[in-house]
Amino acid sequence: MDDMTLLRMAHDAMKNAYVPYSNFPVGAALLCEDGSVYTGCNVEGASYGNAICAERTALCKAVSEGKRRFDTLAVTANTEDFCTPCGICRQMLYEFSPDLRVLCGSRDGSHTVHSLKELLPCAFSAKDL
Ligand code: THU
Repeated sequence: MDDMTLLRMAHDAMKNAYVPYSNFPVGAALLCEDGSVYTGCNVEGASYGNAICAERTALCKAVSEGKRRFDTLAVTANTEDFCTPCGICRQMLYEFSPDLRVLCGSRDGSHTVHSLKELLPCAFSAKDL
C-alpha cells in the first residue's frame, strides 16, 4: 500500500474521533507487515485521563486481532503543523516495531516521514529489563 492511501485512511478514521473535551480529532492507520490495515481515532472520557490516542487505538485493534509486526503508521489531524505521535504512543509502538515508518500528516494533506527510532531515541525496551 502506498503512503498516500494510508494517510487517506488515517484521515477518514479521524471522522469517528470522540473528542467532546479537547475538540482535537486525530486519525491513524497502521499497516501491518502482512498488508492488512487497522485504523483508529482518539476516544476521550469525562475522566480526562482515560483518553486514548488514535495511534494506540489502531495498535490495540491490530494486536488484539493477532498482529504483531508493523510496517508503517500514518497519523493526521486538522493542524497546520504535522501531527506526531505522543510519547506514550511512541513507546507502545516501539514495543512491537522499532523499525516502524511514521507518516505525520497535516490539514493541507502534506506529510513528513520519520522512523520511530528517530522519534524515540535511546528507547527503553525489553532488552533493558
Ligand atoms: N492525541 C492523539 O490521539 N494522538 C496524538 O498523536 C496526539 C494527541 C489525542 C489525545 C487527546 O484525545 C487529544 O488528542 C488532545 O491531546
